[in-house]
Amino acid sequence: MAFPPSFMDELVARNPIEEVVGQYVHLKRSGANLFGLCPFHGEKTASFSVAPDKGIYYCFGCHKGGSVVNFMMEIEGLSYPDAVRALAKRAGMEVPEDEQYQSRYRQQERLWALSKEAARYFHSQLYSPAGAEGLAYAQKRGMTPGILTKFGIGFAPNSWNGLVDAMKAKGYTEQELKDAGLVSEKGGRIYDRFRNRLMFPIIDVRGNVIGFGGRVMDDSTPKYLNSPETLIFNKRKNLFALNLAKKSKLGYLILVEGYMDAIALYQYGFDCAVASLGTSLTQEHAVLLSRYTEQVYLIYDADQAGQNATRRAIPMLEQAGIRIKVLKIPDAKDPDEFLKKFGAERFQLLLQESTNRVEFQLAAIGSKYNLAVDEEKIRYVQECAQLICTLDSSVKREVYSGRVAEAAKITMDAMKLEVDKAFRRRVAQEKKRQEKIDLAPMKALQPKDRSIRYDNMRSAMAEEGILCQVLRDPSLMDSLGRLTPESFSVPLLGRVFAQLLNRHRQGLEVQLGVLDDITPEEMAHLTGVLQRHQGPVNEKAFRDCIRTVLTERQEKAVSSDEDLLALRNKLKESKGTKI
Ligand code: UTP
Ligand code: MN
Repeated sequence: MAFPPSFMDELVARNPIEEVVGQYVHLKRSGANLFGLCPFHGEKTASFSVAPDKGIYYCFGCHKGGSVVNFMMEIEGLSYPDAVRALAKRAGMEVPEDEQYQSRYRQQERLWALSKEAARYFHSQLYSPAGAEGLAYAQKRGMTPGILTKFGIGFAPNSWNGLVDAMKAKGYTEQELKDAGLVSEKGGRIYDRFRNRLMFPIIDVRGNVIGFGGRVMDDSTPKYLNSPETLIFNKRKNLFALNLAKKSKLGYLILVEGYMDAIALYQYGFDCAVASLGTSLTQEHAVLLSRYTEQVYLIYDADQAGQNATRRAIPMLEQAGIRIKVLKIPDAKDPDEFLKKFGAERFQLLLQESTNRVEFQLAAIGSKYNLAVDEEKIRYVQECAQLICTLDSSVKREVYSGRVAEAAKITMDAMKLEVDKAFRRRVAQEKKRQEKIDLAPMKALQPKDRSIRYDNMRSAMAEEGILCQVLRDPSLMDSLGRLTPESFSVPLLGRVFAQLLNRHRQGLEVQLGVLDDITPEEMAHLTGVLQRHQGPVNEKAFRDCIRTVLTERQEKAVSSDEDLLALRNKLKESKGTKI
């Protein structure tokens, strides 16, 4: 679906990329660019860049990039038209479109509205006669009125159609109730999915109600019934209570297993706790967390399952560049129980004493081996050395080496040798990898996306240069000499140049973000090009680039002419010899 060019110009102008991206990524300025941690892949150093002057973002790590529209598509999982609509809404603009057009975005908006209505309904039920049991249960679990309001806790009455009727009265259809995962269906009839349960609304970081968890009030199963996956509810991408925790001033986040744990922590003053939604932690969760904090306390349940989950979560959080502290709850099965037994002060002490991830990982390695057996002891020492050699400070390496040496009853010297060996092996591997990269500079310049090829590297580099310059100063397009879009050797670059030229001649904005008919992969490539060629506009360099492109083009033409000539001569010769 194409939008009018002038509308797109205004849309882009009214949604500055640094503001839009800044809603999702913490950005720091460095020169003309802003940098932050890439929201699309886990990383520790900021390789995600935003160039406000060019209206683009680009990640030097994962090579994703594009305009403000591409960013919305990628981060919200929207189609192109829906991303445009979302940005129009953000800027308070009317979208010129066919009223009949039923977009995914509109549908999403209806489901958000319906879910919010449902949450209101459940919450009001808590204080109605039908909800007396629910309220009593919430109170028994220690929830204060303030907490019930803050988390929007509600109650689903013991009825087959309480919610269905209430939502139909508000104008929602059966189909919409199904799409929102609020009802079940049998024999063509729908009925309330959640019945006789204490309801926990799940709210995304933008404040939309996207789903629910409903807890039984006795020991029946399932203990929690959750919303199914819907257009708006994705368990792998959302965390319970992050909408509240992201506002915390504590400077860290606490990751727990249960809804009840996150709520109890909030109630006891730790307003920074989040829980996953009945799934184990995903890489998406880790990246999401890294947008809001650099420090996470992992506090899973004390049982074996909780400890296993901790072990799985660590590498994912580390991948996302998060510093981790691991906390094992003593004398209670989970944080909720601990707080109720011992109070907030004791919990604060636990936080202070929590082990860092190295200690946790060393302990995890230790638990795999029987140190009384020589064979196993050796493997224990080697595995610990591999971990220790990755630490960035010599003091840390020394401290942990000492602990392992002590545990394995070997000398500190022997341990040190082991760590050095592991370190050298790592360096050697790293060097090999780097050499591979250095040895293939031409290959490195080839586009990352395999669908785009540079056949004539000299010309392609000059073409890149031309695009970058005209994007910075469109008036350069007034003096192109003999250069036309057809002169380009790379079809994509020629196509983009043609569009830019057209726009310039019509007096429209000359920007990447407003182009038509460019795939996301192509856009990622183009933004990468733009970020690679930094520096100010330089007319001489521009003319040099044009000359190179024209020369390369001519040589190609000449050489193919020559080939033809040579071929003809050869044919003549061969004929001659035959005759
Ligand atoms: P817990 O059983 O630890 O729940 O499960 P909890 O939140 O501490 O609840 P209480 O204290 O027993 O009331 C941890 C999380 O696993 C998911 C829920 O997200 C829960 O918060 N879960 C658990 C389910 O989705 N379904 C279940 O049947 C059980
Ligand atoms: Mn619990």
